[in-house]
Amino acid sequence: MYNVLKLNKIAAIGTDRLGDNYCCADSVENPDAILVRSAAMHDMEFGSNLLAIARAGAGTNNIPKDKCSEQGIVVFNTPGANANAVKELVLAGLLLASRKIVEGIDWAKTLKGNGDAVGKMVEKGKSQFVGPEITGKTLGVIGLGAIGILVANAAVALGMKVIGFDPFMSVPNALKLNPHVKLMKSNEEVMTSCDYLTIHVPLTEETKDMVDAAMIAKMKDGVRILNYSRDGLVNADAVLEALKSGKVAKYVTDFGNDKLLCEENVIVLPHLGASTPESEDNCAVMACDQVKEYLENGNIINSVNFPALSLPRTAATRVCVMHRNVPEMIKTVLGEISGNVENMASKSRGDYAYTILDVTGDVDADKIAALADVIRVRVL
Ligand code: MLT
Repeated sequence: MYNVLKLNKIAAIGTDRLGDNYCCADSVENPDAILVRSAAMHDMEFGSNLLAIARAGAGTNNIPKDKCSEQGIVVFNTPGANANAVKELVLAGLLLASRKIVEGIDWAKTLKGNGDAVGKMVEKGKSQFVGPEITGKTLGVIGLGAIGILVANAAVALGMKVIGFDPFMSVPNALKLNPHVKLMKSNEEVMTSCDYLTIHVPLTEETKDMVDAAMIAKMKDGVRILNYSRDGLVNADAVLEALKSGKVAKYVTDFGNDKLLCEENVIVLPHLGASTPESEDNCAVMACDQVKEYLENGNIINSVNFPALSLPRTAATRVCVMHRNVPEMIKTVLGEISGNVENMASKSRGDYAYTILDVTGDVDADKIAALADVIRVRVL
């Protein structure tokens, strides 16, 4: 029986797929796996049984990935599962950034109680809420992953000129990109050439404050900035300063903080990007399937800290070894296998590597686990 702890609400359509051999609950002692959405995990102590953490979403900045790697815990995410939901909210954001929809709605509410005069008051007051159209304007997309590509393609369909940059764009994603999207050579080239900017990259040390005062100074006057990725990518002080001077016309973000709330020309949404029933279902299904595949077969799909590695089972015994990415490791591990290795696969990712061996014969897991640079061993 596997024990799975849910730190957030995870759709039953996903957890139901785990099957009878799983106990999945909101409170579990020493779980084998954790399912999480946005709960902060940086201060959590992990039990000795913990093998996997799956985030039902794309970003994993709420999970201590380095600590997990050191302890042999695989961190999964669900890339693409909520991409359509986020794309739809970004499209709404483009319009919110352009037309003074929020301000207009707020003002219209103030007319309550004016009876038959409301119609006339609306016509008289509406000119304060004029805003430009998006057709023909240039949208800059930073990050052409699952979400960025959908946003770029949809913006082309809405008649925008679209430019983008992503140094890590995969071949399948490149093939999905509308050929009208012009690829630029750097983030800066995108940011300094667009009327609307949307950011779709994870928050890391490298991407933190990628939109700061220096970068904003180089942007077009009146640029409108959308951030549906993470707080911290756009420096709040810099954007507020630029809004005051008119350099930035509007900032729409799905990640509020106290500085941004209630500021003029800032629209803060309460992290709604992935909050659709469809995306919650998709993320839950993907997260649970990946956890099940790893717990039962040792196959790793969509991990953010260990290499992707899958091998169809070809023998009664499977040995899964997590180890450091150091010379002669595989030779040393093989030296501890007394039976026949029917099939094997190994892959590294940065400082870590993962090896799967399908073997016939006896395996002494403790002996392999005792080898230098081995982090964790499982025999399935
Ligand atoms: C994501 O990283 O994909 C989103 O933040 C998911 C969510 O809203 O939970």
